[in-house]
Amino acid sequence: MSEMSEKIVLKIIKNEGLLSHTMIPEKLLHREAQIQAIKSRLEGFPENMANFLLTITGDVGQGKTAAMNNIEKGLRKKSQKGLAIHVPVKESEDPYTLLRDISRACGFTSGPEKLPDRGISYSEGWLKFSTALGDTPLVVVLDDFDLGMMNVERSIEPLIRDLASRPHTGIICISNNLAVIDLIKDDRIHSRISNIHSIDFPNYTPAQLVDILKERVDMGAVYVSNITPGALELCAALAVTGRRGDARYALAILLQAAKLAEQENTRLTRNHIERASTEFEQQLLENTIRKMPTVQKFMLYTVATKGSCALGEMYRETEQLMDRVGEVWTRSPRRRSEHISNLEARGFVQVVSQGRGRGGGVGWTASLTKTYDINRSLLVSVIKKVILKESGKYEEPGIGEPPKSVENLLRIPP
Ligand SMILES: Nc1ncnc2c1ncn2[C@@H]1O[C@H](COP(=O)(O)OP(=O)(O)OP(=O)(O)O)[C@@H](O)[C@H]1O
Ligand SMILES: [Mg+2]
Repeated sequence: MSEMSEKIVLKIIKNEGLLSHTMIPEKLLHREAQIQAIKSRLEGFPENMANFLLTITGDVGQGKTAAMNNIEKGLRKKSQKGLAIHVPVKESEDPYTLLRDISRACGFTSGPEKLPDRGISYSEGWLKFSTALGDTPLVVVLDDFDLGMMNVERSIEPLIRDLASRPHTGIICISNNLAVIDLIKDDRIHSRISNIHSIDFPNYTPAQLVDILKERVDMGAVYVSNITPGALELCAALAVTGRRGDARYALAILLQAAKLAEQENTRLTRNHIERASTEFEQQLLENTIRKMPTVQKFMLYTVATKGSCALGEMYRETEQLMDRVGEVWTRSPRRRSEHISNLEARGFVQVVSQGRGRGGGVGWTASLTKTYDINRSLLVSVIKKVILKESGKYEEPGIGEPPKSVENLLRIPP
């Protein structure tokens, strides 16, 4: 008998696509009420749609984008007279680049109607876009809307104002921030649209997440007999305790655990899920930190190594690190506080005032939030890894090697 035929290979994954978080089932479980509420706002689409501004809020992985994608598909099927487009907003985006993305999503991708990448002002761009669009009814979904409102000096507000003033236009802002409507400061927007509503997506419960996972299993995602009973329940429980009911996370750790089990040629057990969850947490943290501007990484690194420190001290150390890597940055107090506000908004740090003792006035101290303080060493090692990877100096540490400090590794030889 050949060796090949003796070896039993345990397969867990039958159809990887069904476990992907990019797969959106036609009917979303446990979101009927929210979807119905959104649809009722869009009833008059396209001809009889009054202007409205709708905010859709909820934590990460609660089906906001998925629900809107399905609704938009329905709108497109319903009528070709109106346009329903979905555009992701990027961090600190300016009104022109977002307008350009909207215009391209509306189909103006060539000829004189196409907005160039740069070279014209926002108002010229708006004129070109609104002329090209004519009186076509438009529903524009701005996903991760709050990212476009982070930069106080250059937010996307002018574009929202122009959209709000256009007839037959619905603006839908998706955000993780429950108070997203308060980010819109311009009173003219509020006065132009009286029709402002908000729909919140409550966090999935463990039982709801089990249903979502089970639906994929029933569709044929995995070989059920090679999965330990209780596996789906554990994925759901971890997604609730660690990530407030994030469906994307529940799906991702199930897939990752299945891959680990296949590599080890064993049935999928609780242990695979726990390991997948830890690996995934680290990956998420790494991705978030990678996307931060360098100066924010150093600010966070300084706070993380100490647990908490005075803002003055944090700025000084950050400056030294920035000088060492030779990065150019704006040192204005305004920019500095914007960076620290971003770290606060992302839930990494909190800034509190502290008395300096009698006659000393108050000083400001930045400290890690509880979530990150309990895992401080992990946070430090992940920031270090990202910074070193970017500087091209990252090497996987050898066994028993002393920890390297970013300061030493980034030191430029005299
Ligand atoms: N009710 C559901 N039924 C089935 N799958 C779901 C459901 N909700 C979410 N998912 C799955 O989880 C993925 C993530 O959901 P989605 O992208 O809509 O989250 P989100 O609320 O937009 O999160 P974020 O705030 O991070 O953008 C979806 O692509 C889908 O695969
Ligand atoms: Mg989303």
